[in-house]
Amino acid sequence: MIILVGGEKGGTGKTTIATNLAAMRALEGRDVLLIDTDPQGSANYWAQSRDDENISPRVACIQKFGKGLPKEVMDLATRYEDIIIDAGGRDSVELRSALVVVEKAFIPIQPSQFDIWTLNQMEELVETAKAFNPGLTAKVIISRSSTNPSVRESDDTGKLLNDFDNLELVDVTIRDRIAYRKAAKDGLAIIELKPKDPKAVKEIEGLYKEVFGNG
Ligand SMILES: Nc1ncnc2c1ncn2[C@@H]1O[C@H](COP(=O)(O)OP(=O)(O)OP(=O)(O)O)[C@@H](O)[C@H]1O
Ligand SMILES: [Mg+2]
Repeated sequence: MIILVGGEKGGTGKTTIATNLAAMRALEGRDVLLIDTDPQGSANYWAQSRDDENISPRVACIQKFGKGLPKEVMDLATRYEDIIIDAGGRDSVELRSALVVVEKAFIPIQPSQFDIWTLNQMEELVETAKAFNPGLTAKVIISRSSTNPSVRESDDTGKLLNDFDNLELVDVTIRDRIAYRKAAKDGLAIIELKPKDPKAVKEIEGLYKEVFGNG
């Protein structure tokens, strides 16, 4: 499957989600390629630290910029079972061109009004991309949400999404947990981190299921 984790807003957890999904896919024995399209290169650094620490399974990662992305992805799709594209937090040629080739796009946002406003633009980008890529589905992931159960911001954000024709909400909410930062620092996925954070593992496994189904 070819998926994009992208969006216009910075710091919403795109790279965290993309790297976790890539490692989980590799742990299932799938041939997965992570494509880092962000000049910051965070996903690439993460994959590099896995290599430096000899963490198995290896997660193949390449950096790719510019509008040649769709062609490159189609070519790479013949060699990899899964491709996960991480696109930086701004409107970019990489974000727009990835939307033309992926089957599913996932857009993490923090449950804040500033992030929600960026969805108007994402809605338009997805609608435009659908003219070339009619099978595209785009789903919003509420990410870095408060772990405080009395804070209902995820529910409120979910309701606002009803106004968008091209965007749906995934069922799982990713919460702000220190474990995500700890895992990232060592080139790990949440499910590889010790000691385990069972709540983080449960939510990322739920997200994995929503993204890849049983395939
Ligand atoms: N669920 C989470 N819980 C705690 N910290 C998180 C979570 N998701 C991301 N972070 C932290 O927030 C920061 C930004 O996350 P990340 O780099 O994944 O976001 P991004 O959307 O890829 O950012 P950019 O737009 O710059 O590419 C990082 O320090 C990361 O470790
Ligand atoms: Mg990033």
